[in-house]
Amino acid sequence: MQKRESGVRFMGMVIRSRISVLLFSMFSAFASLYVAGRLWQDAENRVYLAKELDRITGQGKSVLSVADSWKIIECREQQKILSGLEMELAAARQEGFVSKLLSETDKSPKRRSLVVIGILTGFGRKSNRDAIRKAWMGTGTTLKKMEDQKGIVIRFVIGRSSNRGDSLDRGIDNENALANDIFILDNHVEAPEELPNKTKLFFAQAAEHWDARYYAKVNDDVYVNIDAFADTLAAQVDKPRLYIGCMRSGEVFSEKGKRWYEPDWWKFGDGKTYFRHASGEMFVITKALAKFISINKSLLRTYAHDDISVGSWFIGLDVKHVDEKKFCCSSSWSTGALCSGV
Ligand SMILES: *[C@@H]1O[C@H](CO)[C@@H](O)[C@H](O)[C@H]1NC(C)=O
Ligand SMILES: *[C@@H]1O[C@H](CO)[C@@H](O)[C@H](O)[C@H]1NC(C)=O
Repeated sequence: MQKRESGVRFMGMVIRSRISVLLFSMFSAFASLYVAGRLWQDAENRVYLAKELDRITGQGKSVLSVADSWKIIECREQQKILSGLEMELAAARQEGFVSKLLSETDKSPKRRSLVVIGILTGFGRKSNRDAIRKAWMGTGTTLKKMEDQKGIVIRFVIGRSSNRGDSLDRGIDNENALANDIFILDNHVEAPEELPNKTKLFFAQAAEHWDARYYAKVNDDVYVNIDAFADTLAAQVDKPRLYIGCMRSGEVFSEKGKRWYEPDWWKFGDGKTYFRHASGEMFVITKALAKFISINKSLLRTYAHDDISVGSWFIGLDVKHVDEKKFCCSSSWSTGALCSGV
């Protein structure tokens, strides 16, 4: 009996304390909304007052009018209130009293990946994909671990068949159901001449899909020393607009019918060589550049090759070209190359 009574009492306390926790968190949520609103309002006031202050002091007035002095005092007061509110909000955050909605607007809810690597592949190249899975990409838990622990996301990238839903598309869907390592570009139709468009779409969609410091494009016949590759990227200076690769120029083909014929050959200086650009086998851009592609994709024109196209977008921007010889996949492993063509 005694035991039961104390049990009931205990239950009552638990319920009561649950209710008070509930009330308290509701109160906290409203409080934080209020604080956020105030912060915004105060920030606006502060901008106005700071401008006023600048105007007054910038004019070199040695004597301030009473009204001006009041404004300055008011401004200092506002600043004090603002920093007080900021501290309150920070404290509330730390104690977990800020509603989920508010904390979700925080800049980095998830940890940012180091790099997203897209291996551009095509139909009928399953043997290449399997070779890459075995050699350096990994599968299943290895792939997942690479993602969660090292921040390296690796996916094959492919579009859709021109006969949407045919056996080619189904083949890719089945392969992906097993391996779970294919990034399907749903609004891209696979065709060899569409590779530049595909590269553009990959960067645009990857930037929207994953938050990473770098985005890399790799061909599906390239072997990558993945650990050394990640180390090289992690060691780069953290600049917003980097374009890293094996920089070269390459021949412009102006004769119609040749394999790499460039219809716009006359645009390229002497019509014999391109401007400097990263070789298409493997190159890397930073998040800001991938975002730039994503936002401006409808304006960015493509040329006959994907690497020339990417190079042309960046040659007119404030971008740092990093000539990284280790990304030259035709040189041998012994010279420190991080990749090798097959
Ligand atoms: C690439 O995309 C553009 C714009 O969507 C389109 O006009 C063009 O035909 C596509 N293909 C090639 C080879 O440029
Ligand atoms: C291109 O992208 C940048 C963001 O990198 C954006 O600020 C700019 O407005 C875009 N330009 C156009 C014409 O959409």
